[in-house]
Amino acid sequence: MNKIDFKGSVVLNPVPVVMVSCRSNEGKDNVFTVAWTGTINTKPPMLSISIRPERLSFEYIKETMEFCVNLPNINLMNATDFCGVRSGKEVDKIKEMNFTMVEGINVNVPYIDECPINIECKVKEIIPLGTHHLFLAEVVGSHINSNLIDESGKIHFEWANLINYCHGEYFPMSKEAIGKFGISVAKNKDLIKKYSKNYKKTINKKDYIVSSKNFKKEKNNENTKKNFNKDKLKKTYTKSKNR
Ligand SMILES: Cc1cc2nc3c(=O)[nH]c(=O)nc-3n(C[C@H](O)[C@H](O)[C@H](O)COP(=O)(O)O)c2cc1C
Repeated sequence: MNKIDFKGSVVLNPVPVVMVSCRSNEGKDNVFTVAWTGTINTKPPMLSISIRPERLSFEYIKETMEFCVNLPNINLMNATDFCGVRSGKEVDKIKEMNFTMVEGINVNVPYIDECPINIECKVKEIIPLGTHHLFLAEVVGSHINSNLIDESGKIHFEWANLINYCHGEYFPMSKEAIGKFGISVAKNKDLIKKYSKNYKKTINKKDYIVSSKNFKKEKNNENTKKNFNKDKLKKTYTKSKNR
C-alpha cells in the first residue's frame, strides 16, 4: 500500500465526543467538551478522560474528584461544540445552552438531562502526561433514556443518534449494524444472514466501495502524485489542535 508516514501524532479516529459536567467545591457547575475519552476497565467499570490543566473544569474536577460524562445526540451538536470553544471562566455555558441539570444519584455533580446517556464517575487516579492529565475514574452509576431500551432490556445506543468526532469534524452514527462481536466465527445461519444483508448493501454503496482495483488506479495516477503536497499534509496532522 502507498502510505504516508507521520511522526508521533495521534491519528486515532473516529472517537466519541462527550460533554463532561462538573462542580467546584464552592458549588459552581460547569460543562466542557471532551474527545479524549475511553473505556479502560470492565470490573470495576472504569473510563478515562484527558484534560489540559488550563481548563476551568480541570480545577473543579481536581477539587471534588467527581464528574459526569454526558453523551450528546445530533440535536446537541452546536451545544457540544460551544462547550468546547468557550470557557466557564468567561461564560455560564449551562445557562447559555439552556441545559436542564439533574442532580446525580451517586455523585454530587449534576448531569445534562437533554443528553440521552449520562455516566456518573469518581476519580481514582490522575496521571500527568504532558499537555494533558489523564483522569482514571470509576463509573458509579448511569442514566439511560428509557426509549433506548427494548422489551428484552437491551440498550440500543444506535437509536440515540450519538455524535462521532473525526479529525476536527462531527459525524452522525449509522443506525444499521453491519456485523456483531463474534460474527467472523458465528455458526448461526440466521445471524449471519441478518448482518450480511446489511453488510453487502453498505459495501456496495457508492460512498463505501473499497476495492483493490480502485487503489491500483489511484496509485498509477500521476496527477494525484504531482498534486500531493506531503509537507502540507503533514503539517495539518502535526499542528497542535489544542484539544
Ligand atoms: C470537539 C472538542 C473536543 C475537545 N476535547 C478535549 C479534551 O479531550 N480534553 C481537553 O482538555 N479539552 C478538550 N476540548 C477543549 C475544551 O472543551 C475547551 O477548552 C473548553 O473551553 C474548556 O472549558 P472550561 O474552561 O470551561 O473547562 C475539546 C473541544 C472540542 C470542541
